[in-house]
Amino acid sequence: MASRILVPWALPESGREVLKKSKLRVTYLHGPAGELPTLAELIEAVKEADVVLPRGTQPVPREVLVANPALRGVANHGVGYDSVDVVSATELGIPVTNTPDILTETTADLAWALLMATARKIPQTHNFIISGRFTGPVGHPFMGMDIGPGGSNRPKVLGIIGFGRIGRAVMRRSKGFRMKVIAYDPPLREIIEKTRGVEYRELQELLKESDFVTLHCPLTKETRHLIGRNELELMKPTAILINASRGPVVDETALVSVLKERKIFGAGLDVYEKEPQLAPGLAELENVVLLPHIGSLTQDTRNQMAIVAAKNAVAMVKKRKPRNLVNPEVLNRREYLQKVSD
Ligand code: 8YV
Repeated sequence: MASRILVPWALPESGREVLKKSKLRVTYLHGPAGELPTLAELIEAVKEADVVLPRGTQPVPREVLVANPALRGVANHGVGYDSVDVVSATELGIPVTNTPDILTETTADLAWALLMATARKIPQTHNFIISGRFTGPVGHPFMGMDIGPGGSNRPKVLGIIGFGRIGRAVMRRSKGFRMKVIAYDPPLREIIEKTRGVEYRELQELLKESDFVTLHCPLTKETRHLIGRNELELMKPTAILINASRGPVVDETALVSVLKERKIFGAGLDVYEKEPQLAPGLAELENVVLLPHIGSLTQDTRNQMAIVAAKNAVAMVKKRKPRNLVNPEVLNRREYLQKVSD
C-alpha cells in the first residue's frame, strides 16, 4: 500500500510524533543503527511515496525525483539543500523545503567552539594529558593564537565569508573578543555596508587581512572550491581557517598541503569535501581540529528541525503550500498545479 511519507533515515522522535499525529502512512527506511539506504533502495522506495523527508546532506538526485511522477514534495531536514537537485525538482513541479532559522544560533556556537579549540589547541592538549605525557610545564608545541586583543592589545580581525543568518550570528559572538569584523558576500554587499560593526572586503583583501577566516556560505556553483591554494596562500602564516558550512567550498587537498607546509597556523573543520571521507593526510596533521559535521547537533535544535521538517512534509502531502520553500517558483509551474489539483 502506498506510503504517503517516506523517511529514509532515523528521524528524531519529535518529528515522528508529528507524523504519527497526522495519521498519514509513513515508511521509515534505514538500518538498525540508522544506516542510510542506498540510492537504489531510495529510488525503489520513493515510487510508493507522495513526499520524501531526507536527512540534510542525504543525496536526492534527479534519478530519485523522476522515479515517481506523482512525487509532490521533498522536506529536507536541514538548512543546506545542496544535496537535493532543486533545479530538477522545480522542473518536475516538486516543492522543496528546508529548516532555516532554527539552527542558526546552534551552528554559530559550534563555529566559535571550533575557532577557539583551533586557536588554543584544545584537543591536542587534552590528548597530551590523557596519554600520560603531562609530566611538567608545557610550551611551544601547544602555543596558541589570541582571539581577543592579547598581550599586545591588538584587536584580531575576523573575516566572515557568507553573511547570511549564520554568518551574522557568528559576527554577534565576536563582540566579546573585541574583534574587528570584515565580510565578503557579493549578493549581500549592500547589507554588509549598512550593518554597524562590519566592513565589506573583496575576497582577496579579506584573506590577506584576517586573523580568522570563517566560512558560512551555501554550496553553489559559485562557491565550490572558493578557497583553493591561491586563496589559502594569501592568508597570514598566523591565520586560522574555520569551515562549518559545506566541505566542497574548500579545496581540501590544497588545504592539507598548505597546513603541512605551515603556510597558515591551523584549520578547524566540521565539514569535508567528500564526507565522511577525509582528504589523504588531513587526519594526521597536528594543526587541525576535526569534527564530524555536528553544527546543528544539539537536542533542542535537532528536535525543532525534525518537527519543522515533518510539518513541511505533512503540508505537502495535504497539497497545502508549505513554509520554508526553497523553490517558490514551483508554485506557478503547470507540473505542480496538476499535482495539487488531482
Ligand atoms: C546537518 C546541516 O547536516 O542543516 C544543515 O544544512 O548541515 C546540518 O543541520 C543535517 O542537515 C541535519 O539533518
